[in-house]
Amino acid sequence: MSSPLLEVSLLSLCLLYGSIFSLIAQASVPPSARFQIPVDTFFGEYSVEYGANYRLIGIDNYPFQLGFYNTTPDAFTLALRMGNPLASPKMYFVWEANRGKPVRVNATLTLGEDGNLVLADVDGSIAWQTYTAQKGVVGFQLLPNGNIVLHDSKGGFVWQSFEHPTDTLLVGQSLRLEGTARLVSRASEKENSDGPYSLVLEPKRLAMYYKSPSSPRPYLYYTPDKLSESKGRIQNVTLDSGWESECQLPERCGRFGLCEDNQCVACPLPNGLMGWSRDCQPVKSSS
Ligand SMILES: *[C@@H]1O[C@H](CO)[C@@H](O)[C@H](O)[C@H]1NC(C)=O
Ligand SMILES: *[C@@H]1O[C@H](CO)[C@@H](O)[C@H](O)[C@H]1NC(C)=O
Repeated sequence: MSSPLLEVSLLSLCLLYGSIFSLIAQASVPPSARFQIPVDTFFGEYSVEYGANYRLIGIDNYPFQLGFYNTTPDAFTLALRMGNPLASPKMYFVWEANRGKPVRVNATLTLGEDGNLVLADVDGSIAWQTYTAQKGVVGFQLLPNGNIVLHDSKGGFVWQSFEHPTDTLLVGQSLRLEGTARLVSRASEKENSDGPYSLVLEPKRLAMYYKSPSSPRPYLYYTPDKLSESKGRIQNVTLDSGWESECQLPERCGRFGLCEDNQCVACPLPNGLMGWSRDCQPVKSSS
């Protein structure tokens, strides 16, 4: 049982906070712009990346759609999907909110009066949020370039997904030193957690790292020459070219093996170079 005195002081504290908030919060999200969207059990019909199941939520701007997907039962990720199902056989996920923190059926994505966009699991725990409560947000938009934004009454972006990349850059999106300066690969088709590859913008270069399960730290294995030669500090970078060769992938030929012209060509063994096979791996040393 709580004492009446405590209740009174809590009440006055709440009133005090209430009046402070009403002074600070000049703008709030109008009722028409608020939403609460549950993760329901509708399955999408098109083929998407990772062989996932997906549920769209009616927020789209061609060729982008926001929705939930899962690759394992009842573990949903809020993600932006891109593609034209009539022109290409597959659609791709280009941004994710809650990698590594999946939610279950009946979780909700909510934009409330305070302007915070929150993904809450069915038990109420918060899986992801934009931390924009009381920051002047009046609306939510998915822009034609794939940028998801929370904007203020003057149209300025209080929060934008372009500043929180996952593993993909869209046209016009940057890695920025003063922000999220990295893209991180996914663990596997099935498992949506951070994977071994990362592309990191550093003050003097753009660097690709690989962290093998057996090494304590990631190692640098690729950095584009053009950027590394540039003088001064790099502030941001936008990618517009793809791989030069698959041989740049460190485990293209398994744990050991020589790669040339995108192909695994040889397995170095004590008695010389032999034809590569899937079993190619370092010979165990006896010492
Ligand atoms: C989700 O919500 C619906 C409607 O409230 C309910 O019928 C259903 O049992 C819920 N499912 C789960 C898995 O909680
Ligand atoms: C990228 O850096 C340049 C200066 O090098 C700056 O003018 C530009 O605004 C930056 N763009 C972003 C998106 O931060």
